[in-house]
Amino acid sequence: MRIKTACAFLLSMSLLARQPEHARHAMVVVQEPLAADVGLRVLQSGGNAIDAAVAVAFALAVTYPYAGNIGGGGFLLARFADGRTTFIDFREKAPLAATRNMYLDSKGNVTKDSLVGWRASGVPGTVRGMELAHQKYGRKPWAELLDPALKLAAEGFPVSYSFATSLHSENEMKLLSQFPESKRVFLETAHYGDKFVQPDLAATLKRIRDRGASDFYEGETAQKLAAAMASNGGLITLADLKAYQAAEQEPLRGRYHGDEIITAPPPSAGGVGLLQMLGMLEGSGYEKTGAGSAASIHYVAEVMRRFYADRSEYFGDPDFFKVPVRKLLDPRYIASRRSSIDPAHATPSGQIRPGELGAHESTETTHFNIVDNDGNAVAVTYTLNAGYGSGVTVPGLGFLLNDEMDDFAAKPGAENLFHLIQGEANAIQPGKRPISNMTPTIITRDGKLFLMLGAPGGSRIINGVLQVILNVEDFHMNAQDAVDAPRFHHQWMPDMLYVEQGISPDTVALLRAMGHEVSPLEGSSPVVARVETILNAGGWLQGAADPRGNGKAEGY
Ligand code: GLY
Repeated sequence: MRIKTACAFLLSMSLLARQPEHARHAMVVVQEPLAADVGLRVLQSGGNAIDAAVAVAFALAVTYPYAGNIGGGGFLLARFADGRTTFIDFREKAPLAATRNMYLDSKGNVTKDSLVGWRASGVPGTVRGMELAHQKYGRKPWAELLDPALKLAAEGFPVSYSFATSLHSENEMKLLSQFPESKRVFLETAHYGDKFVQPDLAATLKRIRDRGASDFYEGETAQKLAAAMASNGGLITLADLKAYQAAEQEPLRGRYHGDEIITAPPPSAGGVGLLQMLGMLEGSGYEKTGAGSAASIHYVAEVMRRFYADRSEYFGDPDFFKVPVRKLLDPRYIASRRSSIDPAHATPSGQIRPGELGAHESTETTHFNIVDNDGNAVAVTYTLNAGYGSGVTVPGLGFLLNDEMDDFAAKPGAENLFHLIQGEANAIQPGKRPISNMTPTIITRDGKLFLMLGAPGGSRIINGVLQVILNVEDFHMNAQDAVDAPRFHHQWMPDMLYVEQGISPDTVALLRAMGHEVSPLEGSSPVVARVETILNAGGWLQGAADPRGNGKAEGY
């Protein structure tokens, strides 16, 4: 029965198989097509991958306000053709006036303030992050990279079906209509097929183009943002904005089957999670029953369960808390976690604790990959947190603010938006960065770029990225098949194995028989992340946009 299920799955895969986009020289994979076009044009006109990433990030802030942003933050991972790597952290920070219990009511219950409204925002990092990346590694003039975004905002672009339906969905209407400026700028202006013009955002982008990030953090934009915060009960001040710096650090590294994995260090939990889970899988033989088999899903789910238990305890901003990265990735520790996996039965999460070391999900973040003609690779994941962030558009500035404060443990031990339980290490402190799941990742084989990927999807990001890597590394799929294959998700608590449509009812029955509580994903968040991928194989770049979204892969 197990073999039959695996065969049925593989058959359906091959019947449905789509080809990835192929290109010889350069590739962009972006979750919104107009922004993808911007990136490709920058590459074709002599820009490098960093230039294209900067241009795409600003373009997405115009064409994909769901997650593209200048009011949020994220991570940029780069591997240059000469082998150098860098990780630019432009994660939002808690304002200086933030306090540990700021999202608890008088009875100690968690309020909605970390998710909606003026008090939900961390200090945005995107503009500083892009400027840092450009100053250190860019080739084209800054203004030239801002121009496409400025043009899209000033002249407008047709509202696509996916933008219109996301904006006018019940949840987003409810969120945005609470804030008059968001209602005016987005709900009353962006209708399917119409041209969507954003004059306020165009003016903001023009100032950033002409004066650089200092406009956003110290100049007119900063003054207006701080004034709006003050009159609406928000916490971000001019001092917060002035103090914000993006940080450059070494990426995290590990290996799987000899390939080098270059990925996100803390304050992301993603890279550590990815390496720990790959470590538990390597040599386990989990893949022998085939892609999509109940036995392989079970084993990977057990691995996920164990990592997410650690995630609940051991992650916080490394400037405030010493994340035990070395211990979490110690081969002996990983082996001991692996030895507790029963290949035939689910371990109830109640029996798994964070190891002894001696969301509802909304898929609102966004990820893009760029490879240029020289072989430089840039992977960016950035976000407003929930779709359309806190719902607040800053009056006169035209951009939405994040609700990243919800990525902190508002009350250690209680669930956040993504039903993640988090500990003291991730409690709110002024100037601190909340723990993220964002996992931009680049893999090299024999010293050359092999695979790059990343995803939105809240707590499901790490597991989405993991499964696409396994589909390539262990099941030898091409980029598109690896991304298209149905996925699953386990995050320890709740003790539930979530499965996408496409995992067969027979397989689900086998998983239940092994003791898993299985919940088919449906409703407003039916997917396990949306993973954008570039695979470098046989002299071709394969670009794959995830069909769970509306992205575009294009190259030359
Ligand atoms: N805001 C989603 C994440 O950083 O994980």
